[in-house]
Amino acid sequence: MPMSRTAAIRVISPDVSSRSASVPHGSPAAIAEISTGLLAERAYTSPKYLYDSLGSKLFEAICELPEYYPTRTEASIFERYGAEIAQAVGLGSTLIDLGAGNCAKAASLFPLLHPTQYVPVDISRDFLLEAVSRLQQRFPHIEMTPLGLDFSRSFHLPVSVRPGKRVFFYPGSSIGNFAPHEAIAFLRRMRANEQGDGGLLIGVDLIKDGAVLDAAYDDAIGVTASFNLNMLRHLNHLIGADFDVTQWQHRAFFNAEESRVEMHLEAREAVTVSWQGYERHFVRGERIHTEDSYKYTRRSFIDLLQEAGFAATRTWTDDAEWFAVLHARAIGD
Ligand code: AVI
Repeated sequence: MPMSRTAAIRVISPDVSSRSASVPHGSPAAIAEISTGLLAERAYTSPKYLYDSLGSKLFEAICELPEYYPTRTEASIFERYGAEIAQAVGLGSTLIDLGAGNCAKAASLFPLLHPTQYVPVDISRDFLLEAVSRLQQRFPHIEMTPLGLDFSRSFHLPVSVRPGKRVFFYPGSSIGNFAPHEAIAFLRRMRANEQGDGGLLIGVDLIKDGAVLDAAYDDAIGVTASFNLNMLRHLNHLIGADFDVTQWQHRAFFNAEESRVEMHLEAREAVTVSWQGYERHFVRGERIHTEDSYKYTRRSFIDLLQEAGFAATRTWTDDAEWFAVLHARAIGD
């Protein structure tokens, strides 16, 4: 009698819950930063920890979702106003792409801006290097200098980044992931690294109907939920914690008073998490605040730029005014 299929196949199930306290792989600074957040009365983490290699791929998938309008709306603005944008930005610059990810947005502008050097910067180094090696084959004449670093706190550009006309490219409304006072500090650091007649090309998400925002951050097939939950696996890796992802759920909503979409991870049951001699107990329903995504009006964002030492020269939006792309120059240049 032939062996039944079920008897012949032995399934080894992986530890899908990711629960196993282990050796930390993060730097001492990252471990200290994450521990401080997890031990705070209202637990929080920096959104940069959403982006390990899988997190970066999940974010790419989010950008394809019908609910997540920012990526395609911004792309439509670049497509429609590409010539005007190129005129405002100018040609032949060093293009510094902050949070470059798969580098696709900047690459779509290469034929318009003709940069002489491309400097993609991203915390997810391996993901970035893979993307750049593909891109270099398509654009062999552009010098590419990828930098795998965390630019959210400080950035000192190495000497391999050419002096002269530097254009900072910060698309996708990533500026919204900083609180406004942090965004100003961040833009000031950018301004300090700017030289000559460069500038800033930046995308910003605009305030709109709350239901549209809620859906964009809590999509029907749960990609954003996976993106958020994956942070727990990343934290396990970085600090050697024993988060069990099955004990947590994704929460995202527009907080109109603060003008931001908030993302949280909420305990489905009472949970105790341990790492590095620390322990944190969460009661059922308690949350870890994982991300804010601030939304602006055109005016409020131009004011913010001004506070950071930039004057907006041009603004482009889509017809519904859901998203804006701005070009700005350092004040005083
Ligand atoms: C990268 N950043 C601009 C995204 C945003 O919209 O705040 C990250 C994101 N979080 C959930 N969905 C997308």
